[in-house]
Amino acid sequence: MDRKINIAIDGHSSCGKSTLAKALAKALGYIYIDSGAMYRAVALHLIQNNISVSDLQAVLAVLDDIDITIAYPDGQFTIYLNAEDVTQRIIQLDVSSIVSEVAAMSAVRSKLVQIQKSLGEKKGVVMDGRDIGTVVFPEAELKLFVTANLEVRTQRRYDELIAKRMPASIEEVENNLQHRDHIDSTRDDSPLRKAADALLIDNSYMDRKEQLYLAQKLATERLMLS
Ligand code: DC
Repeated sequence: MDRKINIAIDGHSSCGKSTLAKALAKALGYIYIDSGAMYRAVALHLIQNNISVSDLQAVLAVLDDIDITIAYPDGQFTIYLNAEDVTQRIIQLDVSSIVSEVAAMSAVRSKLVQIQKSLGEKKGVVMDGRDIGTVVFPEAELKLFVTANLEVRTQRRYDELIAKRMPASIEEVENNLQHRDHIDSTRDDSPLRKAADALLIDNSYMDRKEQLYLAQKLATERLMLS
């Protein structure tokens, strides 16, 4: 089918939305974009340059030096920060622990939202994040809001870090998730919200296959209507 739609997937940290978004994009032959990775790349740039997130002037001064590009070598979503592949580096806890503060800055958001909107111009994009259905693609034909309970999300994130040989304790991971959820939902600029027309998926007790089946069914329905 030639017609394509955009799909926005928002939700809390570590609720499996990236896994769902990736699988859905693959099933539909669409492009997958992890918008959180862009905020993480900015956070990493600050770490690499010893810039504190509380020093707004210093952050503003380096924003124009940050070049973020996305490519799919071997079909995998890959993010480059000033030409360096940082896809694995940005999931480490030092980045996670400051990224919500970085994402709360309006200047950072407007730079990244502009890139994200342009990536969706040709349609055929599945993008996951916190403000995709509300700000980046408010006209997306399908919007999903994914969540799961904190215990389930903590275990999933912990398992992911351990599998990637990135040591962390359950307590550390849970505290980080709670911290990020709080900042993401309470910030002034584009807080995490379910768009009025988004469909809620609580996947606490759903497996990956069930979620993908549901999302694919919804996407096919929306494609028919578009
Ligand atoms: O999805 P993630 O955990 O990689 O996101 C990293 C941070 O960036 C998280 O604190 C939320 C924020 N974020 C955002 O504010 N808007 C987005 N579209 C994506 C992520």
